[in-house]
Amino acid sequence: MIERSLVLIKPDAVERNLIGKILTIYEDNNLKIINMRLTKVSRELAEAHYIEHKGRDYYENLISYITRSAVVAVVLEGEGAIALVRKLNGKTNPAEAEEGTVRRLYGLATNQNSVHASDSPENAQREIEIWFPEK
Ligand code: CDP
Ligand code: MG
Repeated sequence: MIERSLVLIKPDAVERNLIGKILTIYEDNNLKIINMRLTKVSRELAEAHYIEHKGRDYYENLISYITRSAVVAVVLEGEGAIALVRKLNGKTNPAEAEEGTVRRLYGLATNQNSVHASDSPENAQREIEIWFPEK
């Protein structure tokens, strides 16, 4: 099934000039960039995006991290895009992520893991509406 997934290239990766290298991994795996935006994230947007994590012990740190400098929000489209992007990104903790994944290659730690990707069709739709409200 052709799906869409919302990816964020997070502040630690944008700060280290990794946008091109990360997008190349997606494009090389048959995913099409169909929308993209570089933006500094407001607290309001960060809280809407991470609503499911409110109350977790890492939540305040997560909101500070995602709002500290610019992110790149990307909509990727392709066959099985949601599972495919999560596979390409690798596990949440870069030390546990498979070789060749974005987080293994570029992630610094669980709390600076370089990328986000939608985890379900419902969340993909919700996140795309949050980041690209005109669509
Ligand atoms: O991003 P992913 O779906 O792989 O992980 P998650 O468990 O849904 O957590 C969302 C994000 O919260 C992670 O990508 C990390 O940036 C952050 N996090 C953290 O800083 N510390 C944790 N113990 C767990 C998650
Ligand atoms: Mg998640």
